[in-house]
Amino acid sequence: MPRTLENSNSLKNRAKKVVPHMTGTFSRAAPSFVEGVFPVYAQSANGSHFIDVDGNEYIDYLMALGPITLGYNYESVNHAIISQLKEGILFSLPHPKEVELSEKMCEVIPHADMVKFEKSGSNVVTGAVRAARAFTTKDKIAYCGSGGVWHDWQAAMVSRDNGVPKFNSELIKLFDYNDADGLEQIFEDNKNEIAAIVLEPTVYDKPENNFLNKVRKLADQNDSLLILDEIVTGFRFDLGGAQKYFDIKGDLVCFGKGMGNGLPISAITGPSEFMKSFDELWVSSTNNSENISLAGTMAVINEMQEKNTIPHCWNMGKKLFDGWNQIVSKFDLDAKMYGYPIRMHLQCFDSNKQESIAMKSLILQEMVKSGIFMSVLGPTFLCYSHTEKDIDDTLHALENACEFVTKNVKESNYEEYLEGTMPKIYLVYEN
Ligand SMILES: Cc1ncc(COP(=O)(O)O)c(C=O)c1O
Repeated sequence: MPRTLENSNSLKNRAKKVVPHMTGTFSRAAPSFVEGVFPVYAQSANGSHFIDVDGNEYIDYLMALGPITLGYNYESVNHAIISQLKEGILFSLPHPKEVELSEKMCEVIPHADMVKFEKSGSNVVTGAVRAARAFTTKDKIAYCGSGGVWHDWQAAMVSRDNGVPKFNSELIKLFDYNDADGLEQIFEDNKNEIAAIVLEPTVYDKPENNFLNKVRKLADQNDSLLILDEIVTGFRFDLGGAQKYFDIKGDLVCFGKGMGNGLPISAITGPSEFMKSFDELWVSSTNNSENISLAGTMAVINEMQEKNTIPHCWNMGKKLFDGWNQIVSKFDLDAKMYGYPIRMHLQCFDSNKQESIAMKSLILQEMVKSGIFMSVLGPTFLCYSHTEKDIDDTLHALENACEFVTKNVKESNYEEYLEGTMPKIYLVYEN
C-alpha cells in the first residue's frame, strides 16, 4: 500500500488553529522537515522505531531531538516509572528518590559533589548562568557559538530573541569554538567583568590545539566559572559525559536530554563550592522534585552501567558513519556524515561546492519514503536499541536514494525533485 500522510495532515491543520507554531518545540514542527513528505505526528514508538499517525513505520535517527539514549518504550525504565506511579508522582515533601539519584549522579559524573534537578536543558543553563553571576558578583557571560545560542532564556542573542530586553546584549560576549584567542580577547576587553564561560564541550567539530584546556585555564586566570553545557554530550559520549571523554573539568555542568531517555528531567552538577550558591538563589520550581522522572532516570543510569550501553551506540554509529561515507563516495556525491559516530551531521555540497540544503532534503526525502527518518536540519543520533539490521536497512535505502539522485539531478536542480517544501532554518543547530 502506498504511504499516506492523511492523518498527519489533518492534525496539522487542527493544530494551526490552537497551538502556536503547531507544537511546543520549534524543531519538531512540520516546517523543520520536508513538509508534505515527512510525517508530522508520531503515534507510538518501540526500540529504535516509531509509527506515525497513519501507521507508517520508521527507523528513527533523531531520537526525540536527542533524549532517547536507550530506546523507546524501554522495559526497565517503564518498570521503574510504573512502580513509582503507584507510590506517587509529587508530594508535599521531597521523596527519597531525589537523594538517591543525586548520590548516583555524584558517583558517575566527574567532580560532582551536589546535584540540582530541573525540568529542561534551557532551565539548567539559565540557572547555572544565574549561579555564576551570583557567585562571582559579575554580570557578563562569554558564550561559545557565534552562530546562535538560545538556551539561556535571558541571553539577548538567542535565535528569535524578541522580548529579551536589548540591554542584555551588552552582557553577552561571543567567541567561536576552537578560538581560544578570541576568548582571551573577550577577557582582555572586559577586565574583571566576565562571570562565566558557557561552552558545549563539542558539537560536531573536534577540539583543536588544546582548546578545552586553554578555556579552562582562561576561566581560572580570570576568576570566572566554566559552565559546561552537556545537554547533548551528557550520557551520550560517555557515562561521565564530556568531562570524562575529554578529561576536562567544569565548575557548573548542565545535563538534560539523554539522562532521562525521554523523561522531563535535567540537572546541574559541580563541586559544592559552586553548587552551594543555589542555597540562596530562587532557582526553584514546583515540579522540580517530580518523582516519575527521578525514578526513571535512576533506571536509565543503572541500565547504562549494567549493560555498558554507550559503546554499543558508538559501534552502531561507526557502522552507519563509515558505511554512509563509502556509499556517497561510490556515487561521487559530496554528501558526507561529519562529526562523531555518536552525534553526526549530514553535510551536502552541490556541484558548485556550495552547501546545499536542497540536496540534503532530496536525499532524506527519498529515505523517509522508505522508512528512514533523519532530520534535515538537526543531528543524527544513535541509541542502544539500534541494531545491525537497522543500519543495514538504512544503508540500503541510502544506495537507492543516491541512485535516484545521480540518475535524475542535472546541474544541481535538487529542488525540482522535492515533493514538498524545503525546511525552514530557524536555528543554526538543534534545539
Ligand atoms: C546543547 C544544548 N543545550 C541546551 C539545550 C536546551 O535544552 P531543552 O530543549 O531541554 O530546553 C539544547 C536543546 O537542544 C541543546 O542542544
